[in-house]
Amino acid sequence: MNWQNAIRANKLGEGKSKMVTVGSKILMIVNMEGDFHATEGLCKHMKWPLSWGGKIEDGCVTCPLHQTTHCISDGSLVEWAPFPLFPPYGRLVGSMVSKKDLGIFETRLEDGFVQVLI
Ligand code: FES
Repeated sequence: MNWQNAIRANKLGEGKSKMVTVGSKILMIVNMEGDFHATEGLCKHMKWPLSWGGKIEDGCVTCPLHQTTHCISDGSLVEWAPFPLFPPYGRLVGSMVSKKDLGIFETRLEDGFVQVLI
């Protein structure tokens, strides 16, 4: 494992996220109140790119497709595919994939870059 540049820190404002490719991995870099976090970039449910409309709120990211929510700091699952809310269809969509936590990666700031340990 080694540290690799992911994005210039000044290109990602507070509360914003961006999808980047580092090596062979697709990641989401998030700026939460000046702290940078790196997670897997694709939703664990059906691989939607989380930075394409994912809502960052209360330390969590919520996928826009079926609203799976993960904690950004440790990747833990908060809620799995609750949408659509009409119960029979919501349960079916959620059961298509087994529940998983979101992978996270260590980050640091170096020479103006957010670096990720990959
Ligand atoms: S693809 Fe993200 S919740 Fe379904």
